[in-house]
Amino acid sequence: MVQTIQQVAVIGAGTMGNGIAHVFAQSGFAVKLIDVNAAQLEKAAQTITKNFDRQVAKGTVTEEQKNKALSNITTETDLIKGVRDAELVVEAATENTDLKLKIFKQLDEVAPAGAILATNTSSISITKIAAATKRAGKVIGMHFMNPVPVMKLVEIINGYATEASVTETIVTLSKQLGKVPCTVNDYPGFIANRILMPMINEAIYSLYEGVAGVEEIDTVMKLGMAHPMGPLQLADFIGLDVCHSILNVLHEGFGNPKYAPCPLLVNMVTAGYLGAKSGEGFYKYEPGSRDLKVSERFK
Ligand code: CAA
Repeated sequence: MVQTIQQVAVIGAGTMGNGIAHVFAQSGFAVKLIDVNAAQLEKAAQTITKNFDRQVAKGTVTEEQKNKALSNITTETDLIKGVRDAELVVEAATENTDLKLKIFKQLDEVAPAGAILATNTSSISITKIAAATKRAGKVIGMHFMNPVPVMKLVEIINGYATEASVTETIVTLSKQLGKVPCTVNDYPGFIANRILMPMINEAIYSLYEGVAGVEEIDTVMKLGMAHPMGPLQLADFIGLDVCHSILNVLHEGFGNPKYAPCPLLVNMVTAGYLGAKSGEGFYKYEPGSRDLKVSERFK
């Protein structure tokens, strides 16, 4: 049976957390955005307003709808207070297994007994996260894509013990958000990253082996395969550290050397060249500039 959801708590006010809060609020849900860091919450609130302003400028949202959506979001630094009334919790904290296990153990203790606990993890096992709780049947993956207000997909991941009614509820809910849900099972990388990350890794290998330059690799994939971003630009957008850690999950999970991260990617991450968020990856990012400039290191 589909559970009725009205109160949603989102944990983590980073890029994914603020996007998730944005889409729930836009669809009329009451959203508590929770982060231990008050400054991060303040920054997230500004980002959400800025992203609604883009939609108003495009005419896809009216000023009145924007204000109504913004009034649906409240922020909170205390996890216990934040999830007290939640019918659904969507965790979008940093992609770190120990942190997620700790959060889910605590959520299980403080969230209402019937609440569904979802995680936006891009590759950590849902079954493992669920096993940290005493309600594994109510734990599920709800994987949004960045930028959340724009991307239509929600990859829904069934853990080994996820109840069918929970999956049905999250599928229905994703449609209410105007998204297209796709349900998959819990194996390393699920579907999105099992297919995306080997492509990105192969693009990095092609650069590493001197087959072609950054611009050539990205142009082939943009113009040849109609991808909105080339794989190297997309890797910078996702974060090279995130790509590296997902490839490690695939490599360890399947024990197949084909998933081993390219040594160039490993070096870049070790040196702190993480893509757009650090200012440089395969491209160099300057504040306020939308021009895409290949990093001097790859010229
Ligand atoms: N909030 C609201 N609207 C946004 C937005 C945001 N954060 N970011 C962009 N937009 C809107 C813009 O207003 C614009 O709207 P219109 O189409 O109505 O004009 C539209 O999105 C396109 O934006 P821009 O014109 O600024 O830029 P663009 O045309 O270059 O598109 C992009 C930007 C949507 C990011 C596009 O390049 C794209 O689709 N890239 C690929 C994104 C992708 O693959 N994401 C998945 C990453 S993998 C992941 O997230 C999961 C994981 O586990 C790693």
